[in-house]
Amino acid sequence: MADGTTDILQDKRAAARKAAYETPLEELNPARASLFRDDAMWAIFERLRAESPVHFTPDSNYGPYWSITRYDDIMAVDSNHQVFSSAKGIALSPKAAQGFRDPNNSATNFIAMDPPRHDVQRKTVSPALSPHALSIMAPLIRERAGLILDSLPVGEPFDWVDLVSKELTTMTLATLFAFPFDERRKLTRWSDAMTTPPGFGGGAASLQELRETMAECFGYFTELWNQRVNAEPTGDLISMLAHGEETRNMTMGEFHANVALLIIGGNDTTRNTISGSVLALNQNPDQYAKLRADPGLIPSMVSETIRWQTPLAHM
Ligand code: HEM
Repeated sequence: MADGTTDILQDKRAAARKAAYETPLEELNPARASLFRDDAMWAIFERLRAESPVHFTPDSNYGPYWSITRYDDIMAVDSNHQVFSSAKGIALSPKAAQGFRDPNNSATNFIAMDPPRHDVQRKTVSPALSPHALSIMAPLIRERAGLILDSLPVGEPFDWVDLVSKELTTMTLATLFAFPFDERRKLTRWSDAMTTPPGFGGGAASLQELRETMAECFGYFTELWNQRVNAEPTGDLISMLAHGEETRNMTMGEFHANVALLIIGGNDTTRNTISGSVLALNQNPDQYAKLRADPGLIPSMVSETIRWQTPLAHM
């Protein structure tokens, strides 16, 4: 990275820090998406952890909400579903989108459930993502990674996120779903549209376009369900849901909600981890040199990347 860019980033961080400490505590609103876009959220979390680790924001474009910012408190909340249920949803919903939910469709996916319902549905798909299943997929993913890297332009700028991070992620998701391989970029487009507020860039341009995109996605997956339900069970995620004892009688609404969970869960998390690792290694050449000297460090580099650079910028 050029020195000028580093200076600009440092100036921006200093300005963000000043703003975070000058804002009255009760007005701190750490959920604002622009903070994450501008990398300006760090000082807010630092201040909240020190001064108000269980913090209430009475008004925001998501309505009122609580922020928990210390590790032990997060663990306590995350592992106590009796008090902190997931059943009413797991994400703050922007006020602008609150009228968007279809009141006649309360179908939900298993991340937004508590045990025991959560556990039986999760158990249906978890074998596809177990360490054993992933070790079987590893050679294929490695081969694809090699082919992608070999195909990159040499000596000219290119978009790493598009050509590498998105491509490898989408290829892997297509395999997990046994999704038509040539149409795999639909998975990226659908997932991006569902996770990005309309008009914010990178997703749908309007609420209408988002509705149409979701209808296209769920229509496509309904077809896949119908094909898989009438075929012998295979190891892909759709077949597992269509044949699983706890999931085969789910409504199409529930199936669609779980499709959204699976394509979104696997999309930008993995994409951002691939991009973040390359950026971090280039910003820290000593770490890069260490890794090149000992590729045995790669597994710990991967988990460190997830800690270093949150794979979900804002949710
Ligand atoms: C770097 C990669 C990833 C990261 C950092 C990540 C992170 C997370 C986190 C933090 C949760 C919430 C766990 C909880 O509070 O219970 C979660 C849940 C989930 N993720 Fe991922 N994820 C990644 C990749 C994937 C992939 C590739 C898939 C699927 C193809 C996926 C599917 C899911 C599902 C289905 C859930 C809900 C699990 C449940 O409710 O029991 N994730 N993920």
